[in-house]
Amino acid sequence: MKSTLVTAALEAGKILKENFGGNYKISSKEIVSNLVTEIDKLSEKKIIDIIKKDFPDHYILSEEAGALKQDSEFKWLIDPIDGTVNYAHSIPLTCVSIALEKKGEIIIGAVYNPFSGEFFFAEKGKGAFLNDKKIIVSAEDELRRSLLVTGFPYNSSSYKPDPVNTFKKFLMQDIPIRRLGSAALDLCWTACGRFEGFWEYNLNAWDVAAGYLILTEAGGQVTDLKGNEFSVYGKEILASNRLVHRQMIEVLQS
Ligand code: IPD
Ligand code: CA
Ligand code: CA
Repeated sequence: MKSTLVTAALEAGKILKENFGGNYKISSKEIVSNLVTEIDKLSEKKIIDIIKKDFPDHYILSEEAGALKQDSEFKWLIDPIDGTVNYAHSIPLTCVSIALEKKGEIIIGAVYNPFSGEFFFAEKGKGAFLNDKKIIVSAEDELRRSLLVTGFPYNSSSYKPDPVNTFKKFLMQDIPIRRLGSAALDLCWTACGRFEGFWEYNLNAWDVAAGYLILTEAGGQVTDLKGNEFSVYGKEILASNRLVHRQMIEVLQS
């Protein structure tokens, strides 16, 4: 299963690279700013074909194709391009994210940015890796010395709670914040110590499943925004190097 997942991520990454900046079709989903390109579909088809060839009986949940239900203890969670808006604007900060769930637990995950060549990988209980080198979260334990990252829902104008209020709470502590445009990379960049923490509303299982495993295997902590147990199906996420987690919750609750 590990080699299927790695092959699928690498092959899909090739598709992203080959078509980058090209003349492909771009359409909007239910909100004009939420894009899907022909390359999302090509990448997704390649991943699903590779998985189905090796595991025809497994359940697949993929962003564009939806739920390809099967009565299986295994479920693949696929984001064929995480950071589609970046991709459609020829910004090479984007990736392929694939995770495998077994009986409700994420057991392997990969996040691959073919433009930087960074391949993040984790297997439950076996640590997290960036291009085969073990990674761990940052050792910073003070929120005021931290660098945070976040993202905003496509429907921010109507989303409750107001994501800008939350953003403001951190900003008013004079804490620097970045917005990369890929939740999977946000989690992986926290896993390898570039960021201390990440939060976001309204995400889906395919955005976070692989990054969640990679971050927790790198020593990080992931909960909902109140500090409760995390579920990839739970929409909101608070992820950190563990050391600033409580301080982030205090700011969120302020
Ligand atoms: C999006 C990215 C972005 C996040 C959005 C996601 P997509 O995924 O992860 O960072 O802010 O909420 O939907 O649409 O590029 O796959
Ligand atoms: Ca996504
Ligand atoms: Ca996507």
